[in-house]
Amino acid sequence: MGDKLWGGRFKSDTDKIVDNFNASIHFDKRLFKEDIVGSMAYCKMLGKQGIISKDEAATILNALKEIYGEIERGDFSFEDSKEDIHTHIEKALIEKIGSLGETIYTGRSRNDTIALDTRLYVKNSTIKIVNLIKKFQLSLIELAEKNQELTIPGYTHLQRAQPVLLAHHLMAYYEMLKRDRDRYSQALSRTNVLPLGSAALAGTTLNIDREFLSRELKLEGITANSMDAVSDRDFIVEFIFISALLMMHLSRLCEELIIWSTQEFEFIEISDSFATGSSIMPQKKNPDIPELIRGKTGRVYGNLISLLTTMKSLPLTYNKDMQEDKEPLFDTVDTVERSLTIFSMLLKEIDFKKDSLKKATEKGYLVATDLADYLVKKGTTFRKAHHLVGDIILTAKKKKKELHQLDLSELMRFSTLIEDDVYGWLDPVSSIKRRNISGGTGPEMVKKALTRAREELKS
Ligand code: ARG
Repeated sequence: MGDKLWGGRFKSDTDKIVDNFNASIHFDKRLFKEDIVGSMAYCKMLGKQGIISKDEAATILNALKEIYGEIERGDFSFEDSKEDIHTHIEKALIEKIGSLGETIYTGRSRNDTIALDTRLYVKNSTIKIVNLIKKFQLSLIELAEKNQELTIPGYTHLQRAQPVLLAHHLMAYYEMLKRDRDRYSQALSRTNVLPLGSAALAGTTLNIDREFLSRELKLEGITANSMDAVSDRDFIVEFIFISALLMMHLSRLCEELIIWSTQEFEFIEISDSFATGSSIMPQKKNPDIPELIRGKTGRVYGNLISLLTTMKSLPLTYNKDMQEDKEPLFDTVDTVERSLTIFSMLLKEIDFKKDSLKKATEKGYLVATDLADYLVKKGTTFRKAHHLVGDIILTAKKKKKELHQLDLSELMRFSTLIEDDVYGWLDPVSSIKRRNISGGTGPEMVKKALTRAREELKS
């Protein structure tokens, strides 16, 4: 009935509302490149195997190229009645070259085809995102290098804890993103395999060359079980999970930028071109971009839960539920790509305010641990030293003084171990300098970390 691919066993047409509900074309048209690339490889293979003639294969290839161009130019019409991208392209092919077009699904189903298309799409998106992460990391390195001598309070519980180099703080995010990049690359090896040959679910009786297809499509191998190949979307779930983790990392930096740009902190100024104003309060300058990236993190988490929930308890093999994998996937790709792109640009537009950073690092007893270490070097146990410094801080607080503002006589009242050399331990810069341990905030280590990071990005 009608012109459905599967119309043979049906006596009446589907209702328009059913067509519309069933259709995925309004979102899966995004897969047209992957679908055509897959069909071209498949067509070459059919010709090579003698399932169609070489001439027939050439005719199909040409027509597929034409269709590719038409879709790319926006010269192609999409209709609900043709359900999805596979059907649209097959129908267009038949319109161009007649019944020869009917051969491209020989030994193949939409079930293994959609698995291929989404695998190729995830692969292409992964490559793009990995490059965007690299760009982002480079912007981080540049920002760290530009501000290499600046210090900032390191916080725990959002309370001033110990002084660190600002570059060290920024490079913490470099490391997080490095692991995200690794995760994307590792996941790619599981995604980058060929499901074609699985057909609907059981494989095909036709003499399909799967290895040829895998090579032709630059994949790393073939799937091992036809039922698994058309059933699972774990590669999409994994991609979205890694993206969620990446967004989580970005959201933490966003949060810090938002806090740092408050009047309460005043550590940074975001350039006018990356901030917005208020429609009522003339004085406002709002950090909308980091706020939006922080907010969009929620969307990606939602996409992850959405797909996990769709896949939960589905019996083998293909179920139409799985058509619902695409919107969360596409939305994730868009969100991650746009967030990374604008965030890299934003990083170049951040000015750190030297004076307030310096002031903040000097106030709040950030060198208390250094004073305890000093006492340990002079022979006390760390616990005793910790207690003693606590006492000193109580006194200093009462006198509204920082540790370095206490006289030697005042300090010596707490311990006879304290001598004139103590002042060398009470300034934030020397506190940082003393932490030249690998992975620490010491300037030499941070310099090394920056050099290593630049090297890593080259490879
Ligand atoms: N549009 C479908 C999807 O995205 C393609 C596979 C359809 N297969 C089928 N037997 N209806 O999942």
